[in-house]
Amino acid sequence: LNIITNAFTASKDGGWIKIALEKRDINTVAVTICDNGTGISEEDLKHIFEPFFSTKGEFGTGLGLSITHEIITRLGGKITVESTLGVGSCFTLILPRTKA
Ligand SMILES: Nc1ncnc2c1ncn2[C@@H]1O[C@H](COP(=O)(O)OP(=O)(O)O)[C@@H](O)[C@H]1O
Ligand SMILES: [Mg+2]
Repeated sequence: LNIITNAFTASKDGGWIKIALEKRDINTVAVTICDNGTGISEEDLKHIFEPFFSTKGEFGTGLGLSITHEIITRLGGKITVESTLGVGSCFTLILPRTKA
């Protein structure tokens, strides 16, 4: 939810957000959330998963991605990001099958 909210915030009117669910192998799914919003600078990209890093001033807490990173890691998964300033961003969540 935080990743989708971030994508909305970064989007302009008429922008798009694409969410894909992909089966990588028998034990792994990948969720990809892409937007064609503001994108993230190379310098900011180094910091976005750190607690309290935000470019939104009083409107941001900077906790969303650090908490998301923690949850995904604890589940045994992985979160990656690709982004280009002025072009957009893609976040990929790799999630392992949980034991029933
Ligand atoms: N889809 C995105 N497009 C552009 N910037 C993003 C995107 N997702 C995250 N960011 C950047 O990462 C920062 C940290 O995000 P987050 O941890 O969710 O905190 P917050 O949303 O409170 O700022 C944001 O302030 C923003 O600079
Ligand atoms: Mg956020």
